[in-house]
Amino acid sequence: MRILITAGPTREYIDDVRFLSNASSGQMGYALTSAAMRHGHEVVLVTGPVDIPPPAGCELHRVETTDDLRQECQKLFPQCDGVIATAAVCDYRPEKRITGKITKTGHPVTLSLVETSDVLAELGAEKGSRWVVGFALESQDPRKNAMRKLRMKNCDLIVLNDTSAISSTHNSVEVLSPQAEVIASFSGPKTEIADQLLTFIQTQVAT
Ligand code: CTP
Repeated sequence: MRILITAGPTREYIDDVRFLSNASSGQMGYALTSAAMRHGHEVVLVTGPVDIPPPAGCELHRVETTDDLRQECQKLFPQCDGVIATAAVCDYRPEKRITGKITKTGHPVTLSLVETSDVLAELGAEKGSRWVVGFALESQDPRKNAMRKLRMKNCDLIVLNDTSAISSTHNSVEVLSPQAEVIASFSGPKTEIADQLLTFIQTQVAT
């Protein structure tokens, strides 16, 4: 199969030198990329800026903003069999990006933020015969919120993890089905979880 994987954070610029983002390390998406290639799949990796090197052998597309991520995914998804979306997408962007650098005035500054596009929801809406696996990062009512996202984004599966996962080497995840059942759970180093998840995804949605 040819699998699209999104990974890492996105950035939304306030001015030419400052941005909003998050602490996503990209490890889960990169580990899934390696695992998928070990299982004999082609991987198209769309990644935000991270400190780790991309797995050798994948088709790499680097992005920075949520809009970049959206454009790449829209372009690449039609040639793929499915998508695994691990990216920690920046949900808000400043309404206006200031050209140059904002200079201090000694007074508080108010940022007006607007929502970015929901990349996975857009892919889910137009998936046709392709499969869609989302990740849900939750701090409260985890299963309920993960299920809301699975439905909203038209996912075949959603992988639930909590906020401690964001820059850690380890993780603890549950996989939820569209019937709201916990159909698998894995914990340990992200590299091991990636292997188990990939095997599981193959049997569930990609046969
Ligand atoms: N996602 C996306 N585009 C966005 C936000 C999220 O593609 N603008 C994807 C993520 O890559 C992940 C899934 O949607 O696979 C859920 O992301 P998450 O951050 O848990 O949820 P949000 O939809 O951003 O909702 P909230 O931040 O309100 O929890």
